[in-house]
Amino acid sequence: ELASLNSIASSQSTPFSHNIVPRVLSFYHHWKKIYGSMFVVWFGATPRLTVSDPALIREIFVLKSEFFEKNESPPLLRKIEGDGLLSLKGEKWAHHRKIIQPTFHTENLKLMIPMMVKSMEEALRELSDKMSDLGKFEIDVPNWFRNIVEDVIANVTFGSSFEDGRAIFELQAQQLCHANEAYHKFFVPGYRFLPTEKNKKCWELEKEIRRSLLKLIDGRRSTTTQWTRDSCPNDLLEVMIKACVKGRSHPMITPNDIVEECKTIFFAGLHTTSNLLTWTTVLLAMYPQWQEQAREEVLRVCSSRDTPSKHDIPKLKTMGMILNESLRLYPPAVATIRRAKVDTQLGNLQIPLGTELLIPILAIHHDSTLWCHDMHEFNPARFAKGVAHAVKHPMAFMPFGFGARRCIGQNLALLQAKLAVAMILQRFTFELAPSYQHSPSVQMLLHPRHGAPIVFRKL
Ligand code: HEM
Repeated sequence: ELASLNSIASSQSTPFSHNIVPRVLSFYHHWKKIYGSMFVVWFGATPRLTVSDPALIREIFVLKSEFFEKNESPPLLRKIEGDGLLSLKGEKWAHHRKIIQPTFHTENLKLMIPMMVKSMEEALRELSDKMSDLGKFEIDVPNWFRNIVEDVIANVTFGSSFEDGRAIFELQAQQLCHANEAYHKFFVPGYRFLPTEKNKKCWELEKEIRRSLLKLIDGRRSTTTQWTRDSCPNDLLEVMIKACVKGRSHPMITPNDIVEECKTIFFAGLHTTSNLLTWTTVLLAMYPQWQEQAREEVLRVCSSRDTPSKHDIPKLKTMGMILNESLRLYPPAVATIRRAKVDTQLGNLQIPLGTELLIPILAIHHDSTLWCHDMHEFNPARFAKGVAHAVKHPMAFMPFGFGARRCIGQNLALLQAKLAVAMILQRFTFELAPSYQHSPSVQMLLHPRHGAPIVFRKL
């Protein structure tokens, strides 16, 4: 089986280069050649120590994690991303993480599969209805996937209050869109106070989102006590409201905290998951033999069922390999940052308190010393025996971060991606539209600057 996967890898070629590090982290290669795996780069007025040696990254994320903390996002971005898990620190972060974690537990997520299938079925039915007589239709997939992911995250967050929650997320999506366009200005001191049109729109949306979320929380709080244990939907809102009610002895969770966490989950989950789906679809369109291999697996595993069941998902091994390879070549989060909380040491370097460290996830995923010589190639077969076997160091593959602060939504993102791609493969074949331009670039995340038009055809 492995030999046949490897032969697909070696027989595939594409005119598009996946060597995107120079394009996305342009400073990286040049300085790494001169200074090795640790060097300082100035981002405006802020010096950042770039660290790409996996052994040192392990020190930061695992061995000495108590000496390093998340850095502060610029104030405007923080308003949009919410003051939740992504940015909280210390005891408050640990308390919130403990409360929220069960919502993202695999067993809880399995209960959400029917909901995910339903929203995907609707999207695919619409696509099918739009097909021309020639049986084909072109879609710009990033927007399409964002809509589908928004449905799922609204369900995970708001459960029985889905309709109201979805409307609030719609406002947040608009806010994110404005923010994305003005992203580079976030780092200009004082920009957030300027009454520009974009800022004014963001302030308005911010007020509206907060007001609607508080109203929703209030409504749910007044009904919470009437529910029996079995009838409680295990959504994030419910889990946090329970903690809020219990919280008389634990005053840390307040309705305001719930507002911030809802905003954070939306911010952290929406574009990351839709980017994973976008890049995976683009890659499968570029490599028809992998697309065929994945489809053959889905049709075999699901047999006559037209949607995958919870028992089918773990059997989609090739799909898992493809998603990993997509996350390796095109990790939605291209880098992460930590800040030294105290004077400390990293390897043999003294790190003063306050030093910011940049971990270039994308560059690590494309490093020839950590991966084989084909590090810029799309070769899912490298993951055939699992992640541990594919990498030369555990920190060489970290699309979801590492250690205690690793992504809480990892299982949700992978489950949704497997399900969505499987359902597409069951119904359609797809290829890049002639207008497709390969343009990976970073705003907040790694995304295709000129969109990703894909032509779908009925199977
Ligand atoms: C954290 C990536 C999907 C919620 C992170 C981090 C990364 C990441 C790299 C760590 C950041 C750091 O250490 O500085 C991704 C990718 C995703 C994805 C690549 C999809 C392909 C999701 C989803 C959700 C989510 C679906 C929720 C619905 C979070 C949260 C954190 C986080 C709340 C902060 C965790 C903490 O610090 O306790 N994610 N993420 N993510 N992610 Fe994700």
